[in-house]
This record gives sequence, structure tokens and C-alpha cells, in this order.
Amino acid sequence: MSDLARDPPRAVRREREDTPAPVGRECVPSCEGGARVPPRRHSALRMRTFETIERLFVMCGGRRFYRARHLAPGRFLVREELVRVAGLAPDLAGFTIAQLSDLHAGPFLGGGDLAEVVARVNAAAPDVVAITGDLITRKWEEALLVLPDLARLESRFGTFAVFGNHDYKDRREGRIAAAYAEHGIRFLRNACQRIDVGRGTIALVGVEDLEEGKIVDVDGARRDVRPGDVEVVLCHNPMGARVFARAGCAVILAGHTHGGQVDLPWFRTLGPQHPGLRIDLGATSLIVSRGLGVVGVPLRYRAPTDVVIVKLEPA
Ligand SMILES: [Fe+2]
Repeated sequence: MSDLARDPPRAVRREREDTPAPVGRECVPSCEGGARVPPRRHSALRMRTFETIERLFVMCGGRRFYRARHLAPGRFLVREELVRVAGLAPDLAGFTIAQLSDLHAGPFLGGGDLAEVVARVNAAAPDVVAITGDLITRKWEEALLVLPDLARLESRFGTFAVFGNHDYKDRREGRIAAAYAEHGIRFLRNACQRIDVGRGTIALVGVEDLEEGKIVDVDGARRDVRPGDVEVVLCHNPMGARVFARAGCAVILAGHTHGGQVDLPWFRTLGPQHPGLRIDLGATSLIVSRGLGVVGVPLRYRAPTDVVIVKLEPA
């Protein structure tokens, strides 16, 4: 049994009134055998049922409804998360990361639908924009639908991204990365981007998805991190948080859960395990975005769309 499996569960801190209750077989991020998480597989019958329901919602104007209900001004949350870091270099005080997650471009989210979100992020004048996976739902080409919107994101040091489990559909994720690179958006695939700010450095570490990535190389991703760097990990699935927390990073940004999407008891069993929105693991803050898109139905209940604005301050 691994150390991770032996670890006792930690309490989940509910940050806000609207934080959904943890659900699933275990309410803490954990995994066995390193950073991998067994992929969830649905039966062919269940997948056909999902697709039929999705088509019905599309025919009934699901995309228009979703944009008006969840992506219009005032309809998505701007979550501000303050992270206090011990020994933070004065030049890094106030360093700001804007996180977008789980866009799921496709039947219910397409070109222009993120215009208000992009405007709100740009208004926050972040230092970095981080996209934490699931750009698509079914086909790699869907990622191109939202690329013009995402290309308008503005920040001091650029936009970085990691893949989520959906993005590996037909193993075409390389095409997404190439298309996005043409617009200056870099995918961190088991890789690190160090960002020097005066006398401080942010090490932005990105890993392949823990369920579907062919190689999840945590050590390789962290190879360029140096002592004194403030490490910020982008990891689509929050289930691997303990691996990175143990390595001593300051922040882990994840998505994947959609905040439950439709936060009702039966629906919760259909989606991924939901550990909460913010969990402190020692000196590491795990921050989980509810995301901006949906899967299956253009509906959210007690799980509003959100953009997360993470600000670093000295402890
Ligand atoms: Fe997702």
C-alpha cells in the first residue's frame, strides 16, 4: 500500500455557503500508485443515452440558453482566492493568476460565448492566465471554436494550459496544442515554465491528465523547479493533489468536477468525485474551479460557472 493510501482523510474546509458538500467514496484528493487515477468508463448504452439527451437539448436551443444563463455578465462568479506564501519575495507580492477551466467547447459552448468572461479576466489585469483542461467534449476541432476568444486573453506573462481527460479524444491533443501555440497559448505537458519577477520566481508546473495522459511524469515536470521558487501546479484532476503537496508547492489549480454541475444526490454519482472548492494541504492550497462549460446537459444547479483569481501574498 502506498503512503498516499495509508494517509488518513483530512477534513474538507467549506469556504463559502455555496460550497457543495463533498460527495463520492472519499472526500479527499488521493490516489494510489503515484499520480495516476483509474479512468472512469461508461457503458456504451449510457454513452448513447447521454448523446441522445445532448442532441435533444441542442435542438431546443441549449447553447443559447446556457450562454444567457451561465456566461452572460453577472451570471458567472469571479472567485477571488488569496494564498499566503511563507517567505514570498516582495517582488511577488500581489502576483495574480486568472484560472479558467473545463470550457467543454462543443454543443453548448462555442465561438463568442466566452466574450464576457475574457473581458472580465482582462479587467483583472492578471500576471498569468492558466487554463486547467477540458477544452473540448468530443472532438479536437471543438477546441478551435473558443480559440479566438481565448487568444484575446491578456496578461503580463502569457496564457498557459494543461489538458483534461476529455482533451485526449482520439489522441489528437497534439493538434490542439499546435493550434493554440500559434496564438501564444502554451500547453505545459509534464513541463515547467519559470517566470522571473524581480528577485522572485514563479515555477509554473503542468502535468498531463492523471486519467488519460499517456505519461504522467511528475518528477520530469518539476525538474526545472529550483529551491526558492514559488511552485504553482496546473493539474486538471484534483485527485493527485497530495503528490504535489508533498513536493512542497504553494498552489495547485485544478478543475474537472464542475462543482457537481447539477448538485443533486443522484446526479452527483454520474460525475467525478467532488472534493470541494478549496482545501489546505499543509502549506499547499488546492483550488478547484467549477469551470465554465458543461457535459451532457446545458444545466447547472448549485454549481455556478466561475473564473478564479488567485492572488499571492506574504504569510
Ligand atoms: Fe470537465
